[in-house]
Amino acid sequence: MKLIYEKSRPGRRGLEIPKPDLPVPSVPAALARANPPRLPELSEPEVLRHFTELSTRNFGVDTGFYPLGSCTMKYNPRVNERLVGLPGFRDLHPLTEDDAAQGALELEWELQQILLEVTGLDAVSLQPAAGSQGEFTGLLLMRAYFDDRGEGEQRRKIVIPDTAHGTNPASVTMAGYEVTKVSTDARGNVDVDDLRANVDEHTAGLMLTNPSTLGLFDENIDEIREIFHGAGALMYYDGANLNAVCGISRPGDMGFDIVHINLHKTFSQPHGGGGPGGGPIAVRQTLEPYLPVPVVSREGDVFRLDYDRPQSIGKVRGFSGPFGVFVRSYAFMRTWGPGLREMSEVAVLNANYLLAMLRDDYTVPFDRTCMHEFVLSARTLKQEHGISALDVAKRLMDFGFHPPTIYFPLVVPEALMIEPTETEAKETLDAFAEAMLQIVREARDDPEAIRSAPHGRPVGRLDEVRAAKTPVVRYAFEQRVGAAPTT
Ligand SMILES: Cc1ncc(COP(=O)(O)O)c(C=O)c1O
Repeated sequence: MKLIYEKSRPGRRGLEIPKPDLPVPSVPAALARANPPRLPELSEPEVLRHFTELSTRNFGVDTGFYPLGSCTMKYNPRVNERLVGLPGFRDLHPLTEDDAAQGALELEWELQQILLEVTGLDAVSLQPAAGSQGEFTGLLLMRAYFDDRGEGEQRRKIVIPDTAHGTNPASVTMAGYEVTKVSTDARGNVDVDDLRANVDEHTAGLMLTNPSTLGLFDENIDEIREIFHGAGALMYYDGANLNAVCGISRPGDMGFDIVHINLHKTFSQPHGGGGPGGGPIAVRQTLEPYLPVPVVSREGDVFRLDYDRPQSIGKVRGFSGPFGVFVRSYAFMRTWGPGLREMSEVAVLNANYLLAMLRDDYTVPFDRTCMHEFVLSARTLKQEHGISALDVAKRLMDFGFHPPTIYFPLVVPEALMIEPTETEAKETLDAFAEAMLQIVREARDDPEAIRSAPHGRPVGRLDEVRAAKTPVVRYAFEQRVGAAPTT
């Protein structure tokens, strides 16, 4: 496919803007451009076709199955878009006085109440813009809490299991804490003996995802809570996997003191490619005074943005947070109502259905009933046929599926982390399982078909690190003389 600059022809126009009969202001010479901007010149249908063709080269939840483990790529109901586009929401200026934004503030307050119910905690801040920012904010709350108790200098360590998402240790380091890593036991739980040996009066807290990134619910969560609370430390729940437990179990009841919720995963919001997201945090009463400002409060029937919180850690994001995300997630929650539990039950059922179809043909590192996702290993395929997790992922694209997450969690060699979500039909799951089994057969009979995958795609195997680190986002006019106007 040609770039839009390569399609450009000098003088071609999409539309002619009428020339207003107004005096032309003189621009100071120092500010005037020497040459007109080098914009592509095309007719309107050419532009339309160009971008329509580009859009077909992308893969999204709207084009196919997207079982990217830990990312919860579920269908985003279109009604959410209708609601977020209502003029009262869409056109609201973030600096509007509270009195003129009562509807929006009420929505935020209601959203806080639902999050309290889902997490089993006492207070919420909607401010953080993503799960990772929720983590960072939660850790700042821990610091404020221990500083107030005079234990800030003493408690410097945060315990993290070796299955943790990379943002956990990154947030710990950014918040000025030290990481203490603990291992995973033979059943895929946090190794409680290792934990006990690593928790003491210097520990500020634990960061844990439950269910973990292995898709397993930690069977020793009660014991873990006793160890941490017994040592005077706090517990942080990475809520990225909340889609498995809504209405079934609550982080607050498990003993967690701070939780982040990835609104863009559990409660639907088009995401991927960098955003937008929402990562509110919910906390226990003892931590409420430190929450970021503003907090949405209610006095009778009046809603306010409350900035008068002297012990607050301050602001972590502009205004009250990513408002469009709030509207979509609120709409999603209200659509499900008390049936949110069913959402999680179906997500867990779908994952176990897929696992049951694949467990005999792939290596299952921890063979237990899974939660909303599961981790397979391509280790045996690699040993016997030289086919890696990356090869499996690339070949899946030929069958029309987005690859699962690969090589994560790090404790599983050749990991394939699969999360189907609740929004997929049985036929889709069957077709995906069949593709995965076909790849196993091909590994034996025709491994080259896998190693050379993907086939017939706009691009083959990319140097992904180079593409991410040194993207070419500027058209090199000088090297393409004749392809576009050069003035
Ligand atoms: C387990 C886990 N924790 C934390 C995060 C970070 O969330 P976000 O991408 O919203 O920053 C992710 C994101 O994929 C995750 O999977």
